[in-house]
Amino acid sequence: MARVVVTGIAGCIGSWVAKHLLEGGHDVVGLDLAGQLPNGALLGIEGLHVESLDVADHARFATFLRAAEPDGIVHLVSLLMPTCRDQPTTCVDVNVQSFMTVLESARELDCNVTYASSAWVQKPPPDGRLVSEEDDLEPQSLYGVFKLANEGMARLYARDHGVRCNGLRPYIVYGPGRVGGLTADINLALMAAARGEAYRIGFGGSVALHHASDVAALFARLALSPSAAGRVYNVRGSVCRMDEVVATIEAVTGTQGLVTFEDRPLPIAANLSDAALQRDYGPLAFMDLREGMASTLATYRNAESISG
Ligand SMILES: NC(=O)c1ccc[n+]([C@@H]2O[C@H](COP(=O)([O-])OP(=O)(O)OC[C@H]3O[C@@H](n4cnc5c(N)ncnc54)[C@H](O)[C@@H]3O)[C@@H](O)[C@H]2O)c1
Repeated sequence: MARVVVTGIAGCIGSWVAKHLLEGGHDVVGLDLAGQLPNGALLGIEGLHVESLDVADHARFATFLRAAEPDGIVHLVSLLMPTCRDQPTTCVDVNVQSFMTVLESARELDCNVTYASSAWVQKPPPDGRLVSEEDDLEPQSLYGVFKLANEGMARLYARDHGVRCNGLRPYIVYGPGRVGGLTADINLALMAAARGEAYRIGFGGSVALHHASDVAALFARLALSPSAAGRVYNVRGSVCRMDEVVATIEAVTGTQGLVTFEDRPLPIAANLSDAALQRDYGPLAFMDLREGMASTLATYRNAESISG
């Protein structure tokens, strides 16, 4: 049994990471500004303490990590799009400086680190070709720039200090608990259609979608058994056009015409190769989009909590 600190545990991915770790018999030490687990009932997590702590309070954050004596840290705290555009100074503190605290603590405590980067570090190639981890690293948003800074810090702490630190670059996560951030539109559209309400998704083009449970299972796995190389990995997900996403929402909800979208692609590469992840951790199988959306609805219906 390992003891794992999960930062940002009250968020969508964090609560799923907690669920996977707890089901695996591990000890979870949760931290989040929110100080509680809003998705706890939805995911069947009971009685887990969440330390209410601002990771931008770097001294207190470092003290917390030291006291936890973790075997691993899953660092998920981040301000998302569009907050990074609107409050960049705060975001440097929360998204970048706090990660330095994690790396320095991991160096001192000799524990594993897994952190959330994002597909926003890569811009789409003009020809839509398959993109690997090193291609087209020219983020088109401050959010992506901050994530790329974290990747660089992780790479150097692995190389220079032997910190066992690996990152993942999800694209768009949907599923129970995904309600905040620019790309929550996919999940919000699914929930709206299930209620018989209209929803307009604010972007289009091609996307890659991951059910939160799949991505969270990866974060947990990397924290328990890091690859030695200090790598950051693309995660491929279901790669599809937005009209296919809408068709899948209609199929699983039995509705038509409720969900529409702006025909404006996100400035992120969607056709991502996950060859490195499959090589180091595979073979990995993920839910396809229809399966993931049906599972999402089932979770909400079980909890009787489809709400606005
Ligand atoms: N959701 C996605 O589609 C997606 C895709 C790629 C990468 N990511 C990354 O995965 C990670 C988790 O994403 P998510 O969707 O679960 O986000 P989320 O917004 O649901 O969760 C983030 C959590 O961090 C907490 N938090 C924010 N500021 C804090 C602070 N100063 N101190 C302590 N806690 C604070 C929030 O309360 C929230 O619970 C993030 O790093 C995000 O950038 C997410």
